[in-house]
Amino acid sequence: MSIKSKIKKVSQRWRDRWDRDLHDFEKVYPLIKPIPGFLKSPQQERWFFKTARKAPENAVIVEIGSFQGRSTVSFGLGCLGSTKHIYAIDLFEGDNDMYGSGEFQDRFIQHVRSCGVEAHVTPIKQHSLQVAATWNKPIDVLFIDGSHEYQDVKADFESFYPHVKKGGIIAFHDIKGKWDGVIRFWAEVQRSGLMTDFGAVSSLGFGIKK
Ligand SMILES: C[S@@+](CC[C@H](N)C(=O)[O-])C[C@H]1O[C@@H](n2cnc3c(N)ncnc32)[C@H](O)[C@@H]1O
Repeated sequence: MSIKSKIKKVSQRWRDRWDRDLHDFEKVYPLIKPIPGFLKSPQQERWFFKTARKAPENAVIVEIGSFQGRSTVSFGLGCLGSTKHIYAIDLFEGDNDMYGSGEFQDRFIQHVRSCGVEAHVTPIKQHSLQVAATWNKPIDVLFIDGSHEYQDVKADFESFYPHVKKGGIIAFHDIKGKWDGVIRFWAEVQRSGLMTDFGAVSSLGFGIKK
């Protein structure tokens, strides 16, 4: 390891030590850990937690694709002690392929309760585009993790983008790996001029609405 990367590593370690959010996240991560999900752990859960912490008071967080609640509770634990709120949109039906079959809403609710974040979460058991059709709250944080087909990711983005506040955060899961639809749309978003300040935590891509 070069001197430069050693210094970088040591200073990062010090920054982390003084990072209260990180310290708090480590305390709550054992609650999140047993929940089934698809995140790159624990760095993506940490991003949700810290993003919720940094969001303004009364923030509206919209999540498309909640499954059994792993990303939802990561946001939710970052909302504790605040008036921030998450709207968790999912059909909660599973499928017979990737998510398995069954009724997932009960498990979602159980996980939200076991983490003590139910006051901060409203589950919406509906197709994302149906929700978008009547949506009327300005959004501070939008997280898109529903269907990974190109047309669906594009439709989710286009239907919720107008509701995101200027300066709000928009994040996509699975911008890397085998998810061609998300990868293609993520590349388009970065060229679109609609967002700025792009970043990524492993397969989670995010940026700011201009
Ligand atoms: C990858 S999973 C979400 C994972 C979750 N964010 C986590 O942390 O574990 C995708 C979810 O999106 C849901 N979904 C797919 N298309 C949808 C749509 N158009 N509207 C609502 N939910 C949708 C599926 O039911 C599935 O539970």
